[in-house]
Amino acid sequence: MATPQPAIFNEMGQHQWYVHLRRVDGADLGHIKGVITQTRAAAAEHGINLVIGFGPTLLADLTDDIPDDFQPFDTISSDDGSGREAKGTQEELLFWLNSPAKDQVWKTKFDARTALLGHMEVARETSTFIYGDSLDMTGFIDGTGNPEPDREPEVAIVPEGSPGAGGSFILAQRWVHDLDGWNEMSVEEQEKVFGRTKPDSERLDPQEDYSHLSHVELREGTTADDTKPKRNEIVRRSTPYARDDATAGNNSTEGLYFMAFCKEQAPFRERLADMYGLGDSSVRDRLTDFSNPASGSFYFAPSLETLDAALS
Ligand code: HEM
Repeated sequence: MATPQPAIFNEMGQHQWYVHLRRVDGADLGHIKGVITQTRAAAAEHGINLVIGFGPTLLADLTDDIPDDFQPFDTISSDDGSGREAKGTQEELLFWLNSPAKDQVWKTKFDARTALLGHMEVARETSTFIYGDSLDMTGFIDGTGNPEPDREPEVAIVPEGSPGAGGSFILAQRWVHDLDGWNEMSVEEQEKVFGRTKPDSERLDPQEDYSHLSHVELREGTTADDTKPKRNEIVRRSTPYARDDATAGNNSTEGLYFMAFCKEQAPFRERLADMYGLGDSSVRDRLTDFSNPASGSFYFAPSLETLDAALS
């Protein structure tokens, strides 16, 4: 029985850090493997939850245990003239670290990126945090529709007998919120955008055709028809981030670091296409009027056994 990386499901620490890396000319795979091994040891020593995800190119260079249908993230553009798109910025390696101790998270990722110099460069990194009781910065509770914890492995982990068994597909995106625009709306309008109430995340009935749930709550039959069972669920572990610009004035960037796991990649692609009006619904998710992804990548987090063999 292949063992999933435990940090996928462990209780998240308050502080997270996402580091996306790509190989540079002259990169030595043996050196990269060594640094990943050291980083795993450092995370274990300091009690840090560490998930290691590989993009399609690096995974193919490390193992033959490749899951079916593992594709790079291509930009998804709405065709309604709005110019809205989910930008694709595929990279090769993702470290997702989280812990109650931000200093240890920082040190562990800093040592990793420093040791990788000359072999991999950081494409981007973001630190995030848990806000209140699992709030998004819009003030809405994020995570209500997640599967119950005891069902998470069956939703997120490639089953035994399939290529990549024990592993998990990852979608990682940094969404940038327009909080000024969002906060100009009444609470009632905001609730219609998500399809849930603001104070307690109660599901609205009926749903607007532009609501977020009308695009992502996949059901047998029609999306968001809650008389039918859910299908192709995902496990979301998203957290907010805030960046202060080091310039005068009230400049800052806030949003949601969307992070989710699934035993297949297609349910991510289906939801993203739907959100941009390219799927079953030709109506774009209204959330995309208030938030835009600055980045988007797919990774695969192999089982511990595949990881150990790939790094040996
Ligand atoms: C700015 C980006 C996003 C924000 C702020 C956001 C926020 C939310 C909120 C507040 C909910 C309702 C409460 C809950 O169930 O968690 C929700 C539900 C959900 N979202 Fe998002 N979301 C974002 C992007 C995405 C993306 C990119 C996907 C998938 C590709 C996604 C998939 C889902 C799913 C599967 C649900 C639960 C549906 C169900 O109840 O079955 N979300 N989201």
